Amino acid sequence: MKTHLLSSLLFLFSLSLSAQTIGTMQELSAQQKAAATSITLRGVQLPTGWNSDFRQLRDCCPRLTELNLSGCRNRELPTNALFSAHHLRRLVLPDSLERIGKAALYACDGIEELVIPASVVRIDDSALAGMRALRRLTILGCPEMGEMALAGLTDLREIVVQSPIPPRCAANTFAGLQSQQIQLTVPRSARRAYRQAEGWRTLFINASKKHTQDVDSVQIIPIPQSLTYDDGRLEMAQIGKVVACDALNNERDHAQTILNRLSTWRPGKGKGILQLELDATISASPEAYTLQVTPNGIVIRGVTPTAVFWGLMTLEQMLTTSCANTLTASLPTLHIEDAPRTQLRELMIDPARIFIPLAELRLFVVEMARYKLNALHLHLVDDQAWRIEIKAYPRLTEIGSKRTGMDDMPLDISGYYTQEEMREFVQFAARYHVEVIPEIEMPGHEVAAIHCYPQLTCGAREVPIRTTCGVSNELLCPGEEFVYEFLGNVFRELSEVFPSRYIHLGGDEAGNPALDCWTHCEKCEALKAKLGIPLSDRSENWRLQEYLFNRVIDTLRTCYGKTPMFWYETDFKRIPEGCITFAWRHGLTAAAIRAAQENGAHIMLCPGEHCYLDYPAAPGDMPEVNWGMPVTSLEQTYRLDPSWGFGESFEQHHLFGVAGTLWSECIPTPERLFYMTYPRAMALAEAGWSPKSRRQWPDFQQRSTFHLRALFIRRLLDASR
Ligand code: ACM
Ligand code: ZN
Repeated sequence: MKTHLLSSLLFLFSLSLSAQTIGTMQELSAQQKAAATSITLRGVQLPTGWNSDFRQLRDCCPRLTELNLSGCRNRELPTNALFSAHHLRRLVLPDSLERIGKAALYACDGIEELVIPASVVRIDDSALAGMRALRRLTILGCPEMGEMALAGLTDLREIVVQSPIPPRCAANTFAGLQSQQIQLTVPRSARRAYRQAEGWRTLFINASKKHTQDVDSVQIIPIPQSLTYDDGRLEMAQIGKVVACDALNNERDHAQTILNRLSTWRPGKGKGILQLELDATISASPEAYTLQVTPNGIVIRGVTPTAVFWGLMTLEQMLTTSCANTLTASLPTLHIEDAPRTQLRELMIDPARIFIPLAELRLFVVEMARYKLNALHLHLVDDQAWRIEIKAYPRLTEIGSKRTGMDDMPLDISGYYTQEEMREFVQFAARYHVEVIPEIEMPGHEVAAIHCYPQLTCGAREVPIRTTCGVSNELLCPGEEFVYEFLGNVFRELSEVFPSRYIHLGGDEAGNPALDCWTHCEKCEALKAKLGIPLSDRSENWRLQEYLFNRVIDTLRTCYGKTPMFWYETDFKRIPEGCITFAWRHGLTAAAIRAAQENGAHIMLCPGEHCYLDYPAAPGDMPEVNWGMPVTSLEQTYRLDPSWGFGESFEQHHLFGVAGTLWSECIPTPERLFYMTYPRAMALAEAGWSPKSRRQWPDFQQRSTFHLRALFIRRLLDASR
């Protein structure tokens, strides 16, 4: 009885601790923010700048379910204020509020009821989009509402608007709503006006009824090598079947799905065909295809199934409109000849820092493929976690995959991929012609593994898993035989899961002073003596790193037939011939290219200046709090020159491709991952695929606006399935 009373008291005490009534977030400690379940803010003006109160409510309070801002006098809920704050269940907005900024409540998908105060005069683009649990929305005033401001509210059942004049909307303000299930309550005298008003009228029509649209000019990213229009048109209703040989079964399935989703084709009825063909004579590039639209049908020819698939992705873009619920009724007749400029166009994502569920990885692959990005590079391990099951070393995932936070974000970010799940995912990606490349870091960025198996590091020190970003001094010990046994077993198991031609070995940021780890280690000293490496200055440690790499590279090549990849570091001067190195460091691309040329190696370009998509795309954009990331704008990404001014010969013999990186230290939700990726990944895709002569920034800008809108709608509707 006594124990029961005590635990009840403790429970009440913890409740009182987690319910906070304060002026601003500054009054709470990190622990209080982490524990808070209910916050009432009474500060007259909540700070909105760097590390604003909103950013803290969004990123630092994962248990917060109730947020009451009624006591504040803020006039604006800033852009991205509570973007994908999945934890929120109840939100009371200040009745001084005049503007709800762009994406301010995007994917706040735990909130069931919301009242927009009468003071609000503007709800910006996508402000409430993706609030999927929202059942009842009350709009007390007459706010103007931007594009897709209320899109994707799939559970919405009731909208109450008090204004006798319909608030001004865009045509797609309510895109993706289940209009037949929604009760719209407006002043009786205003019902007719709402029925006729732009945007509102979509709430009175059958949402499952599709509209049709004729496409006049196509908008393709990456822009094809050549595209010429003829004078005619193809009515999509002419198309009645897809014809393809057995080797293209997968592509035929995709083609049927695309036609069903996006066009008015009449399967079994139309007389025309969509023909898919293999044709090795088109070009030397295995990814080259042609696409012809005539008044009678469509023919896609490709050198390989991958090439045919890229042709289909082009067709899909031609049929895409930026409205949900619209089918393409006709296309202009045209002819496309296309092939990529570079072999590998990849995105690197980082489930190590913040775990990314498999369902999200799938959506990620589907979108990548649309832009002909053909490799997904998975950064599976780092100082902060180990995310792939290795049967020989179960502690890696039992212990190494559990995280309770990242810097000031006390999130539960545990999780790992089993080998079986990963195998299925790899097969799924292959159907989209996306190759999944695993990365296991060495010798640095390995603290999670070292924590689980301390004998991996010099002196077998016990090291905690890192919960902050930054570079660790703990490295794998090259003088310890267990390290080679460990890596050998890990790569053996990985080779059985990932059929990719490549394995990425990391190799970044294990330089001075981190290499000090090897300066005072008996085993490292003994190895240096055995190899005849002089103990001069710390540069001898780079020779040790080379030894470690060469041994692992040899195993990868001879046992598993893999081509090794790694991040380029200038001190790592000798790149084994045939390897693929990644030029990533700001300002050092030319040095990396010269090293690749001198060593007969290939190079991927992902210079920080253009390709680090985890950096904010504009000043003040997410992630607002970071370790000092420079801004990388869409234009800056677009301006990547894959040949870096080194000319034809470099491009032909050494350039392998381009990569965009999405390190996830500051990307705490899947929605944020998409937000950081697009539209910059479209720019990267075009840099890696399209010839220089076809690329023009203003033209790309216009195409990317169209594509971003379409992607946004897809994402809202896909995520709600
Ligand atoms: C890197 O950004 N550390 C490759
Ligand atoms: Zn050592």
